[in-house]
Amino acid sequence: MNEVIKSFMDRKILLSPEIFEKIKEDSYSDIIEKYDDKNILVLTNELLEEKNKEKILELKEEYNKDRKVRIIKSYEEESGKREVKDFVSHFKSRYNKIKNILLNRTDLQNTLSITRGIEKNNENVSFIGIIYNKLITKNGDLSIILEDLTGKIIFLVKRDKECFNMAKDLVLDEVIGVTGLIRNKVLYANNIFIPDIPYTKELKKSSEEGYAAFISDIHVGSNVFLEDDFERFIKWLNLELGDEKHKEKASKIKYLFIIGDLVDGIGIYPDQDLGLKIKDINEQYEKLAYYLGKIRNDISLIICPGNHDALRLSEPQPSLDKNIAKKIWELPNVFLVSNPALVNIHFSEDFDGFDVLMYHGSSMHYFVDNVESLRLGNAKDNPSLVSKFLLQRRHLAPTHGSSIYATYKDNDPLVIDKVPDFFVSGEMHRPDELNYNNTTIINCSCFQAKTPYEEKMGNNPIPSIATLVDLKTRNITKIDFSENDK
Ligand SMILES: [Fe+2]
Ligand SMILES: [Fe+2]
Repeated sequence: MNEVIKSFMDRKILLSPEIFEKIKEDSYSDIIEKYDDKNILVLTNELLEEKNKEKILELKEEYNKDRKVRIIKSYEEESGKREVKDFVSHFKSRYNKIKNILLNRTDLQNTLSITRGIEKNNENVSFIGIIYNKLITKNGDLSIILEDLTGKIIFLVKRDKECFNMAKDLVLDEVIGVTGLIRNKVLYANNIFIPDIPYTKELKKSSEEGYAAFISDIHVGSNVFLEDDFERFIKWLNLELGDEKHKEKASKIKYLFIIGDLVDGIGIYPDQDLGLKIKDINEQYEKLAYYLGKIRNDISLIICPGNHDALRLSEPQPSLDKNIAKKIWELPNVFLVSNPALVNIHFSEDFDGFDVLMYHGSSMHYFVDNVESLRLGNAKDNPSLVSKFLLQRRHLAPTHGSSIYATYKDNDPLVIDKVPDFFVSGEMHRPDELNYNNTTIINCSCFQAKTPYEEKMGNNPIPSIATLVDLKTRNITKIDFSENDK
């Protein structure tokens, strides 16, 4: 012991009592090697933490430089108090971004501002605006108020019009284009345009072999967390389970995306603790870190949070907190990103890779409940329909109140400004997929059995399934890790 103290003193390092205690427990040489810094006079616990973080970051960078993972968009918290003007600039940014997409339509080339257009009479005009209000008239027509940066106008959609069905699906606060005839300051709509994603985007394929796997909603800590199924999944990834065909497939997996609700969390809803097996949030993440740490190191893990994770609820949710989920953050093959986030994978010198838009999906319930076509299409059980609806609106939560969001200065991070190759979500606890204009929509399963809350809400989860994509062919397979199957 004296030797150790002496060696620190030689380096002009004084030890705080808590470090002194630590040294007693830890390996001496480790500590000396890690904290050999002549400039540090008093080594405190905080300093030790800081130095550790730097070291881990350095190691991670070095370790991951050959991985084909690029984080394109990941949002951290914006500091500073929000004022009304920030709220306005957030909405202006949304309006302008989506307006620019809509202006590519030939029918909307001659769009006027509402204050100018409203003065015309018996003329055909077009507007681009945000839906301010929407109601059904006594005659069964739709009367919608549209707002742009200059003013508001009512547009009427007669129920015998071709665009009536489309108008029925319009939701508050979405940005649309509309053309029609102006008469007495009211627009009689002929056509409605949503921004949508283009038909022409080719189905991109990689010439290099590789698979991406997608899961979400693990809910570690819940007493209905399907631990055995999750363990089977990890064994399968590590080629310890399944026949040769399975092993061949698993061996090609290079990326594992986890789309939020990593743990069940604490205090997410009243009496949640009755449904918890692990009641401490740090322990929940530690347990998950234990599992993730078992996964083959050559698989890159790309992880975003969800509404059950220990973060603010407002979107974008920043990446997982390094202090709470320390053991996950320390895993060398882990990339932590925000919810939503845009990540590019599998690129090479002559291939620009695949853009994967990750969004946990908190807004989805609102649209299932409030959009007629989604309700009739049973989107609750077919969540890819909701994802498609959001892609078409080019926004992850178009209606104010469909999710909680943070306003960002001059930017609305929930706008889908870049068309992704993959749009992946969780939250609905049901696996589903759909090719929509060559964007692959994926909704993930979960590793949690039906909870009493889900029972009450009429949700029908299908747990323990992983979705795989062959990046060479874009073929999708789903593998069931539930007990009954084995
Ligand atoms: Fe969940
Ligand atoms: Fe969730």
